[in-house]
Amino acid sequence: DWTMGAYREEAIAKIREQVGSEKVICGLSGGVDSSVAAVLIHEAIGDQLTCVFVDHGLLRLGEAEEVVRLFRDHYNIPLVHVQAQELFLGELEGVSDPEIKRKTIGRLFIDVFDAEAKKIGGAKFLAQGTLYPDVIESVSFTGGPSVTIKSHHNVGGLPERMNMQLVEPLRELFKDEVRVLGEELGLPEAFVGRHPFPGPGLAIRCPGTITGEKLEALRKADAIYLDEIRKAGLYDTIWQAFAVILPVKTVGVMGDGRTYDHVCALRAVTSVDGMTADFYPFDMAFLGRVATRIINEVKGINRVTYDITSKPPGTIEWE
Ligand code: XMP
Repeated sequence: DWTMGAYREEAIAKIREQVGSEKVICGLSGGVDSSVAAVLIHEAIGDQLTCVFVDHGLLRLGEAEEVVRLFRDHYNIPLVHVQAQELFLGELEGVSDPEIKRKTIGRLFIDVFDAEAKKIGGAKFLAQGTLYPDVIESVSFTGGPSVTIKSHHNVGGLPERMNMQLVEPLRELFKDEVRVLGEELGLPEAFVGRHPFPGPGLAIRCPGTITGEKLEALRKADAIYLDEIRKAGLYDTIWQAFAVILPVKTVGVMGDGRTYDHVCALRAVTSVDGMTADFYPFDMAFLGRVATRIINEVKGINRVTYDITSKPPGTIEWE
């Protein structure tokens, strides 16, 4: 795509101009956006860039390994893998308010990046994969005067105590354009086509308080759901699909026994840019298959529901 080729050259020139000879750290989330930002910035400034991948204990099954493999082995980009599970899950203990969750996670990300920046001898810049819709939605949903729907973890600038400036080379792009840019930069197709995954991770797919038990059940249910979506050949048709674990327990029966376990909700939407979305019309046989597998294979879940809310009035994530 010649347009994206031109964008790439322009973006690289801008990054070089902004950064000069200073060091940059880039927060990787495992999603497409931050990955594309990192590869672009690496192309611009090479080893002045260090990527920081924070495992906050809110990642999906196998996610950390995949990201580390891609960046260290495939790209050979310097990558620090921070094990911050205890820090994040500790601070989130007992927290059930969605905005407090988001703000807590945002603050801890900043703390971790700050510490990592110091460790590499002082990075002046923090790079993020912020997209245009992130910028708009954090300010206002309708374009009218500001109602904050959700505080995106990576929008809103940096706290003053952090002596760093932001590098956000994707700030003018929509998701589909980021994917084209990713292809242009040679990212593996499987990576470019990945569904979006929010920075706050599974925290916002676990309404109510977050516990290790719920996270474990959620990870397994999510992996089964995605596995079935891939097997059915639907992954690329769907913008985003994931499981949510609800803070509600209901009664069920399995074999001869009574069960009293959590409800799992499944979400899948089609969308062009994440700003509006339609729920995906799976056939019932598919949903039945997924529900049976989740209930049989995941300890702690005994009921599965499907979310048929579009955006608006719903949002894609549950928090
Ligand atoms: P909502 O739930 O607002 O989500 O309809 C729209 C898109 O944004 C993703 N999302 C986030 N991405 N940090 C991110 O990097 C966040 O804090 C965040 N919150 C939501 C969401 O997964 C969907 O693709």
